[in-house]
Amino acid sequence: MLIRGATEADLPGIIEIENREILENFAHFGQAPTTLEEARSAFERARGKYPWVVAEDDGAIAGFARCSPWKARESYRLTTEVGVYVCPEWQGQGIGRKLYEKLFPAMREGGFRTILAGIAQPNPASNRLHEAMGMKFVGELPSVGFKQGIWISVGYWALHWSADEQVMK
Ligand SMILES: CC(C)(COP(=O)(O)OP(=O)(O)OC[C@H]1O[C@@H](n2cnc3c(N)ncnc32)[C@H](O)[C@@H]1OP(=O)(O)O)[C@@H](O)C(=O)NCCC(=O)NCCS
Repeated sequence: MLIRGATEADLPGIIEIENREILENFAHFGQAPTTLEEARSAFERARGKYPWVVAEDDGAIAGFARCSPWKARESYRLTTEVGVYVCPEWQGQGIGRKLYEKLFPAMREGGFRTILAGIAQPNPASNRLHEAMGMKFVGELPSVGFKQGIWISVGYWALHWSADEQVMK
């Protein structure tokens, strides 16, 4: 299993995993499948700023992790939100962890200082993974998602790197 930065050629494999989550599960709050065009545009917007990483097994994408803006206002610029998805056949085999072990240093090197994760509850595997990366539970927003007729609460986990204060302009 190779863990590496994502390229545009990985986008079909990424959206295959993402769209299964959108259509069949509750962890992703999308409701309509992501098109390749939308994925390309999100990848372009992220390029050079918000890292995306993939797990590749013999040419197939087994999982991906990425970060994205938390909020648009300028004072949120050192904060980013993470997401991670591993294809069902590969879950529980350490790939989520390996993806984050690549993504987290990349985010830190890129200058981010606060990492957030919003996790639709319940999701013990995701909760555990984020805690294993040093993130702390900071609270839950009740009933903020409505998907397939069900109200879903979202728990938030956070990590703050206080070193390198000089980067904070
Ligand atoms: C959540 C997800 C990304 C985790 O990735 P994974 O490759 O399955 O997880 P890993 O094998 O790397 O395990 C990571 C940690 O979670 C724990 N874990 C894995 N599956 C678990 C489960 N079902 N219940 C409790 N803990 C679990 C592991 O023991 C490990 O903790 P440890 O390092 O302390 O032993 C993956 O299961 C997934 O894609 N799920 C569907 C989509 C999703 O929920 N994404 C998260 C959106 S916030």
